Amino acid sequence: MKLLLPALLLALGAHAVKREDFKECAQTSFCRRLRPLSSKSEVADFTSPYSLGSPSPAVSPHIGTPAKDAAWTFPLTSTLYPDVGFELRVDVLDGDIAQVRVDEVGSASPWRRYNETAKWALLSPEPAHVRASITTKKGVSSIKYGTGLELRINHSPLRIAMLRGGTEEIVFNDRGLFHMEHFRTKEIAIEEEEVVKAEDGEEVKTEEGAEVTTEEPVEVKSEPEEQKPFEATIDRSWFETEDGDLFEEHWKRWRDSKPKGPEAFSLDLTFPRAKHVFGLPEHASPLSLPDTIGEGSYYSEPYRLWNVDIFEYVADSPMALYGAVPLLHAHSAQGTVGVLNLVASETWVDVAHTKGVQTHWISESGIMDLLLLPGPNPTALFEQYATLTGPAQMPPQFATAYHQCRWNYNTQGEVIEVQDRFEEADMPLDVTWLDIEYADEHRYFDWNKKMFPDPVAMLDQVAKLGRKMVAIVDPHIKRTDSFRVYKDSLDLDILIKKADNNNFDGWCWPGSSVWVDFFNPKSWEWWTRMFSFETWADQTKALFVWNDMNEPSVFDGPEITMPKDNIHAGGWEHRDVHNINGMLFHNQTQHAISVREPTKKRPFVLSRAYFAGSHRYGAIWTGDNLGTWEHLAGESAMFLSNSIAGMSFVGADIGGFFGNPGTEMLVRWYQAGAFMPFMRAHAHIDTKRREPYLYDEPIRSHLRDALRLRYTLLPTWYNAFHDAATKGYPVIWPQYAKFPADESGAAVDDQYYVGDSGLLFKPVVVEGATTTEVYLAANEPYYDYFSARMWPARAKPRNITLDTPLDKFPLLIEGGHIFPSRERVRRASSLMGQDPVTLTVALGKNGAHGQLYLDDGETFAWERGEFVHRELAYADGRLRSTQKVPHDAHNAFARSIAAVGVERVRVLGLNKAPSSVTVAGREVQFEWEKGAPKAKEPRAGILTIKNPGVKVVDDWEIVIA
Ligand SMILES: *[C@@H]1O[C@H](CO)[C@@H](O)[C@H](O)[C@H]1NC(C)=O
Ligand SMILES: *[C@@H]1O[C@H](CO)[C@@H](O)[C@H](O)[C@H]1NC(C)=O
Ligand SMILES: *[C@@H]1O[C@H](CO)[C@@H](O)[C@H](O)[C@H]1NC(C)=O
Repeated sequence: MKLLLPALLLALGAHAVKREDFKECAQTSFCRRLRPLSSKSEVADFTSPYSLGSPSPAVSPHIGTPAKDAAWTFPLTSTLYPDVGFELRVDVLDGDIAQVRVDEVGSASPWRRYNETAKWALLSPEPAHVRASITTKKGVSSIKYGTGLELRINHSPLRIAMLRGGTEEIVFNDRGLFHMEHFRTKEIAIEEEEVVKAEDGEEVKTEEGAEVTTEEPVEVKSEPEEQKPFEATIDRSWFETEDGDLFEEHWKRWRDSKPKGPEAFSLDLTFPRAKHVFGLPEHASPLSLPDTIGEGSYYSEPYRLWNVDIFEYVADSPMALYGAVPLLHAHSAQGTVGVLNLVASETWVDVAHTKGVQTHWISESGIMDLLLLPGPNPTALFEQYATLTGPAQMPPQFATAYHQCRWNYNTQGEVIEVQDRFEEADMPLDVTWLDIEYADEHRYFDWNKKMFPDPVAMLDQVAKLGRKMVAIVDPHIKRTDSFRVYKDSLDLDILIKKADNNNFDGWCWPGSSVWVDFFNPKSWEWWTRMFSFETWADQTKALFVWNDMNEPSVFDGPEITMPKDNIHAGGWEHRDVHNINGMLFHNQTQHAISVREPTKKRPFVLSRAYFAGSHRYGAIWTGDNLGTWEHLAGESAMFLSNSIAGMSFVGADIGGFFGNPGTEMLVRWYQAGAFMPFMRAHAHIDTKRREPYLYDEPIRSHLRDALRLRYTLLPTWYNAFHDAATKGYPVIWPQYAKFPADESGAAVDDQYYVGDSGLLFKPVVVEGATTTEVYLAANEPYYDYFSARMWPARAKPRNITLDTPLDKFPLLIEGGHIFPSRERVRRASSLMGQDPVTLTVALGKNGAHGQLYLDDGETFAWERGEFVHRELAYADGRLRSTQKVPHDAHNAFARSIAAVGVERVRVLGLNKAPSSVTVAGREVQFEWEKGAPKAKEPRAGILTIKNPGVKVVDDWEIVIA
């Protein structure tokens, strides 16, 4: 009965997030202990109790670095616990990234801190050829590296500053909030805290009065003389473990056995020059993170990183959501730096804009592993982050088009009906999705054959239209012997265990369920096999996958997730690996999909949970949003904060997961959707049907226009995805990343740029809005995509106001860019591969630049040079197409599109009509629409060159005289 209730409530769609289901900082003991350090350290004579000894070259090898010449270790001690040893290690990595780690060393405790987060999150590249030098003088070690970079390490008290050109950019332990709890025995700790000692097996009353039995005391083989009396050494005024929850913690009806005891750590990072900090996804907060602490702070709770299945999340809140990337950009017009705090346990982050920006990070377990990214600008940060975590996965072409989802298309007939209705309505569609109800009793892989009698025939019928399907495969596995996936996982002994080492079971969609431990290598090959055509016969290569609920969501678990004392492979507790857990599942699933055919294919797997590095495995979305204006308005900032942290293949449920948006709001959602990197409509089972073909005119046309615009611009999106997959750039760029020197636009988060195309989009998110304000950067003209209205270049940034009746929204082009489009209307993107291309040239002060990247859209042949990549440039009346990177221009893919031509070139911003347009001396037709550059509402002249007779794969030049 206790199990049924939460599941029922969820299924019935109980409304509004239940805040009380999720902890606040003060409800979790480590946060309660460590957050107050920031106020306790404000007293005038406070200094950090930590100090370093002399450095020695690190001997052990490390990921991506030859230890020689670029890695040092320092003994680290605290006056609070003089007998406890810590070690601080500094590595200089490729990309001029400094890594600073701290672990407890030489402890008599059998426990170890979790130190494998980097193994899952970071690439292990070839050894880097980094050189750095160290000098130590008068208690200060200085490590010089890169171009003008220095780590200045103060030994006592501990303080580490990263300087560029002699100026401090990042300071670790400036405020002395670094503290690492050491492993200790339960008995001593309990005496120390003067908490009534519970005898083995004795029953004690918890705060809530529930009766529980204490665990056996932890066995620790330590020399008694090594444990000096607590009182003798601790400065209780600074760090006092005033609660009795060190070895056991209760919250509501859950008990966390905490066998390792306290192992939290706290650290502060100050960015003396920063005006803004961005990142730390995933939160429904503004992109420029507001204060969480201090008088009048915007939020009162810290930003929380703890992947949870949150139901109808609050639109403006620092509460934890489905994913976690502990990456921060600290920015001002003078420069941008970044920090990745690589920890996978529950983490809380306070932000305060005082003396630059101060941040305080509190994590429950694990080693301290900080990566300091030197910038000096956002573009460099994207490259540095990609050096660490790899660039994004190159998606298959179809995944960048429109996805239609609903919980649920309940029968095979309904799936086919959706295809037919999109056809009839002349609306493009690439992917039709199936939520949990396709599966018999929510046993994923097993189709409900009553509703889907012949899945292969259905998939073939969809594939014949050039389309794909996605079916959900969640990580919870129904606990029933008749389910082969359950049987296998039991036989292989690869399930996540409880603290008592028995298999963990919990409640989720199928009822009583178990979870495979993807940290266990034995699960990997097996999971790959689950997706092979031999094992899963009821699928075809047109079927792709959606991994939902992988936080993991456990309906009857604490905070709707797994107990922290569950055990993974290697004996690690769930608390140590929680935020990585969903990423491993995503990784394994996408791997399985990519290898199921003899020729490796680009996989597509959508995940809800994620961590640093998840962008290597596919797309994510923002989870269970609401069909409200407030949620629509909040999405852009969420996309942007995810995007700068690598997760730029991101979207939101178009229409909102919950609720029944009216037609005006639905049109606005679709317009916004056309500019989400991942464009999918989705809706809760309780909502009314809202496929775009269901509406009458004029709504129907507005929805169709939004869909078609997405398809028209697919080549531009593909360029951006390719840059993400090769350079680590985000698919969509926030204002500060495009224009880092513009202080006044830094916090703008309700509009964004698509790749390097110059396209600037802003969704309309206000009911009844007939006008919308857009922020324009300085120095280049802007053009309206639809009307060619022009805003001449200005020396200063400005706001402009656009008319935005329901069928209009701001889509502008920054001068200086060329972008490609494909303007033939097709049923699906797979049918566009031989369509001609249109190029739009938006003239800037110095001509214009752009690119066109094309490949087969489904295999990895592009990595072997099978692609077409053109550099497009306009200068002095000449538009040129040349090969962008030197490679075999006659590769098999290029040959397959040899006939594809440029059917139209549109040039915006010429001052006067050309007298002729020629290609290799041959005159070509053109049309000229006179502009009005001096009018009150200036309009750009539009030159349209029709069928210039040039091919996409060739070098050519069009001369406009
Ligand atoms: C993690 O710690 C163990 C034990 O101290 C050590 O053997 C191992 O090399 C460490 N791993 C990494 C990646 O630092
Ligand atoms: C995950 O993905 C990486 C590639 O990014 C791969 O090398 C690794 O073996 C995968 N395995 C697991 C268990 O995550
Ligand atoms: C643009 O408008 C916003 C608010 O609407 C305002 O805060 C900002 O200062 C304006 N920027 C400029 C350059 O006028």
